Amino acid sequence: MAEKTLARGDAILARDGVIAGVAPRADLEKRAGAECETLDCGGRLVTPGLVDCHTHLIYGGSRADEYEMRLAGAAYMEIFEAGGGIHATVRDTRAASEDELVASARGRVEVLLSHGTTTAEVKSGYGLTTQEELKMLRAAARLAEELPLAVVPTFLGAHAIPPDYADRRGDFVALLTGEMIPAVAGAGLAEYADVFCDRGAFDLGETRAVLAAARDAGLKLRLHADEFEALGGTELAVELGAASVDHLAVVTDAGVKALASSDTVAVLLPGTTVFLGSSRFAPARPLIDAGALVAVASDHNPGSCHVASLRAILTPAATYLKMKPAEMLHAVTVNAAYSLGRADRIGSLEPGKAADVAVFDVGDVNELFYDWGPTRAWATVVGGVVVHRD
Ligand code: NIG
Ligand code: FE
Repeated sequence: MAEKTLARGDAILARDGVIAGVAPRADLEKRAGAECETLDCGGRLVTPGLVDCHTHLIYGGSRADEYEMRLAGAAYMEIFEAGGGIHATVRDTRAASEDELVASARGRVEVLLSHGTTTAEVKSGYGLTTQEELKMLRAAARLAEELPLAVVPTFLGAHAIPPDYADRRGDFVALLTGEMIPAVAGAGLAEYADVFCDRGAFDLGETRAVLAAARDAGLKLRLHADEFEALGGTELAVELGAASVDHLAVVTDAGVKALASSDTVAVLLPGTTVFLGSSRFAPARPLIDAGALVAVASDHNPGSCHVASLRAILTPAATYLKMKPAEMLHAVTVNAAYSLGRADRIGSLEPGKAADVAVFDVGDVNELFYDWGPTRAWATVVGGVVVHRD
């Protein structure tokens, strides 16, 4: 499919937002014509636009106070079970108007674009009622309309059992399967559905019920699993043909094996492990060596990983996951795109794919990870249009 892969000294020709050629500059200049706009990258590293396949970019409020509590010893899940954590963000998100949610997320999206991210998956999950979840998903759609970031929307109504359903969990699962999922799918506001399957969140039976209803409604599946306790979510995700299973800090050997013989992408979120002060990182090397497809994402959210962007975590991600620069670059581009069902359109620089490009002020891929600190891209291009230039 590719004419060739990008080599030092090559140029990229884009036409109508799509890559038309990747070849030595002199060759493309002949094809480009005089009216072609050019961006001289001056020998800097050119990569596919980064694809962040797991974010919670839309929310109200801040949990900086909880961060301080965690630094003093409180555990993330203890705060959650005591009514804070995700529940606190649900209260703040419900209190925000749709316009306010768009306005606060707009700033985050501008940071993402300036850091080289061109596509991001964005989850709901801080509404937890039909109306509030729809509000979040409408905000996601508006972000995509107003800004050049491509957004892949995911319904995460099964993020937490709201406190008023604590004694009747089945009623909340019934609300998800009988009302929220049909409403979201009917409105065409989500492409994927996701569940937080873990101790203190949704158990395996509840997760199965929600994912099955989502699949029946025509949504594709993703799953938060094995972050704190392995409940069998990874195996369930593989069984149901989910596009991805995410976190995997405590995935079992059986889970690794199941992933290795599947097309379900293992999405690793090392920024969360760092931000939670844990030392238990997802087993990237065993996953890769077993043959699993591995992507890495930011997990940007107000609680467990309040990170600016995917670019900002590349160095600790590579360091702790022991992934080679080339593996890590694939993990944040083409593998992430595959997990979003878009590997035919984005994630690599080849003719026929979108001209989504990040340019970093480094000399090669090794330096992209070695240079811990600079987070901004030198330039970001979406659909052939320069949307950020430092
Ligand atoms: O992926 N683990 C569950 N959900 C998010 C965190 C959400 C939050 O704390 O607000 C995550 O880490
Ligand atoms: Fe998450």
